[in-house]
Formats: sequence, structure tokens, C-alpha cells
Amino acid sequence: MYGNDFSGEDAPGGLLGEVEAAEAALRAAAERDRGAPGQDVDLAAYFAEVIDADQKIEPRDWMPEAYRRTLIRQIAQHAHSEIIGMQPEGNWISRAPSLKRKAILLAKVQDEAGHGLYLYAAAETLGISRDELVDLLLEGRQKYSSIFNYPTLTWADVGAIGWLVDGAAIVNQVPLCRCSYGPYARAMIRVCKEESFHQRQGYEILHTLAHGTPAQKAMAQDALDRWWYPSLAMFGPPDSDSTHSAQSMAWKIKRFSNDELRQRFVDMCVGQAEVLGLTIPDPDLRWNDERQAYDFTQPDYDELMRVITGDGPCNRQRMEHRRRAHAEGAWVREAAAAYAAKQVSKEKVAA
Ligand code: 3HC
Repeated sequence: MYGNDFSGEDAPGGLLGEVEAAEAALRAAAERDRGAPGQDVDLAAYFAEVIDADQKIEPRDWMPEAYRRTLIRQIAQHAHSEIIGMQPEGNWISRAPSLKRKAILLAKVQDEAGHGLYLYAAAETLGISRDELVDLLLEGRQKYSSIFNYPTLTWADVGAIGWLVDGAAIVNQVPLCRCSYGPYARAMIRVCKEESFHQRQGYEILHTLAHGTPAQKAMAQDALDRWWYPSLAMFGPPDSDSTHSAQSMAWKIKRFSNDELRQRFVDMCVGQAEVLGLTIPDPDLRWNDERQAYDFTQPDYDELMRVITGDGPCNRQRMEHRRRAHAEGAWVREAAAAYAAKQVSKEKVAA
């Protein structure tokens, strides 16, 4: 069990334990001297050797162009998701039910901005600038996660986002701590540690509501009813329809398929919902002894495709808001650039 303080502690073999193990493996890989490729070494063979040996590809290393492009696509999409993901919850900062809740939510939303920045920085090591990536998002040429196109109608939605959306994000991202590309793996370790707090705060909000008045409990149940299937859809299309999984897994960018991670998420949530006293809205959810996993109803993948292609409940609103915020922030970027230029010329004069 992972992600809440109500049903036992993080088991050593739990997700946070996996993050620690990935961090140790990353340090060990950095210390191992695998030698630089000699002049007449076949670079593609050397790349394959590094991947086979579970070591890390670093920005200085040769990499196939398709590997570089896949990483830029995935990391950028991930970074954009963190930034757009600030909107649904930001919507509740001024309406949080207490000063304490407001301070916690404010800190959480700021953390998401920080995650976006780590990820843009990781993408920049692949030879593309943050400005270019932001333009690609604003022009609609890169994606962000489907989940952030759903509205946050009640305070309980903030709890459901923490528990389910951040929970799904962690299940997806813990294996990315072992991604073959060093800068992405390192960013993920930090992100996952911070996300574990986010999940707990969401779970705690829902726990409070679910153990409150009947109206509060109903609000918590309604949030679970609305967020369950979109959270399952976050893991992407089923394996049979996933364009990138096979190649990304061969390159050890992805360590598990979309369906494997979705299953892992469902198995984790069932016990947590029981502790909350809430019902997962799936009449076919039941333990399968043979598979040692829960059988469950798949999300509506047609809906996922509609949301991904721009036709979700809040796509237009999210993009309009992002474009407006970007335009309104132009003076901050210009001021920061002018300040940096001034510092450089001062240093030149002093030298
Ligand atoms: N939302 C939007 N697009 C999605 C999607 C989703 N939930 N799931 C899949 N897609 C897109 C893919 O980007 C791909 O589109 P493209 O070919 O035009 O680029 C297409 O659907 C086919 O999907 P694949 O399974 O072939 O794609 P991937 O192999 O890239 O797998 C993924 C999709 C599992 C989302 C993978 O990219 C991934 O693990 N990304 C990193 C994690 C991430 O981006 N998470 C987003 C949420 S972040 C978050 O929740 C922050 C938290 O703080 C709240």
C-alpha cells in the first residue's frame, strides 16, 4: 500500500522504496567507468551496449535521432502537463475551506510549476530550448495530459486529483526513475518524492470529507465517480493501440506498458478506497485469484482520443488561459533577459 497514512506505512517494497532503489542505481551507474568510445568504435553499437547494460545515456553521448525525438516528445508533453495541471487546482486556491488548506494547496500548485521547470531543463539537454517547447504547446503541436481537461467542480475534486491523478502520475513515473536517459531519470526521482506528498494531501482531504457529514461524504463519492475513469485513461491507450510503447520499452525509456501500469494503479487503489469508505464506480471490479490482480472495466478510449485531440470538456479554456498567462508574462521574461544581459556586461567591465 502506498500514498496514505491511514492504512499502514509505505512498505519497503512500495513505490517510494522503488524510487530510493532507482536513485541508488543511478549513483552507482555514474560511478562505474564504462570508458569512452574509441575513435573507431561503432557509435550505434556502443549506444546499444549502454542500454543493454542498464547504464545511462547522458547528453554528451551519441544517440539515435529517433531516441532523441522520442525523449523530447515525451519529456515536453510531461512538462506541459505539469504546467497546465496547475489550472484545475489553482481554481480552488481562493476557495479552499481554511487557511491551512489554502497554504497547502498553494505550495502544491507551486511544486507543479517546479516539476515543469525540471522537465523543461531535462528536455533542453537534448538540444531544444524551453522557448521552442512552449511555442510548440501554444501552437497546439505538442500535447499535455488528457486528465487536465476535466473540470474541478467541488472542493472534493482537489482531494480526488491528489489521490487519483497524482497517484496515477506516481505509478507511471516511478519506473521513469529508471529511464535510460540520465537527465530525465534524475528529474523523475525528485518529482516522485514530491508527488508522494501531493498524493497524501489529496487522500487526506478525501478522508476528512468521507468521515464528515453525509453531505461531505456524498461530495467525496461524487468526485471519485467523476475522476475514476479519466484517471485510468491517463495511462494512455491500451497496449494494442499504443504507437510508441514497443520502441520506448526497447530503449528502456518506458519500463512497463500502459496496461501494466493501469493494472498496478487499480490494484493499489482498491484497498485505499476501502479505507476511505468510498466505492469505486465499477460494478465489475473484483479480485481475480488466477491473475492475482483485480478485473476492472476499462475507461472509454474513444473519449480519451477525443480529449487528446482537443475536444474534452475544458481543452479550449485551458489553452486560452495558458496563452493569456504567457502573453501577460512577456514583460517578466524581457525584464529577466535585460537583467541577465546587464550582469554579463558588468562582469565584462570588471574583468
Ligand atoms: N494524454 C494525452 N496524450 C496521451 C495520453 C494522455 N493521457 N496517453 C497517450 N497519449 C498520446 C501519446 O502522447 C501519443 O501521442 P503522439 O504519438 O501524438 O505523441 C499517443 O497518445 C499514443 O500513445 P502511446 O501509448 O503510444 O504514447 P507513449 O508511449 O508516449 O505513452 C504516456 C503515453 C504513458 C503518457 C507516456 O508518454 C508517459 O509515460 N509520459 C510521461 C508521464 C506524463 O507525461 N504524465 C502526464 C501527467 S503529469 C501529471 O499528472 C502531473 C501531476 O503532478 C499532476
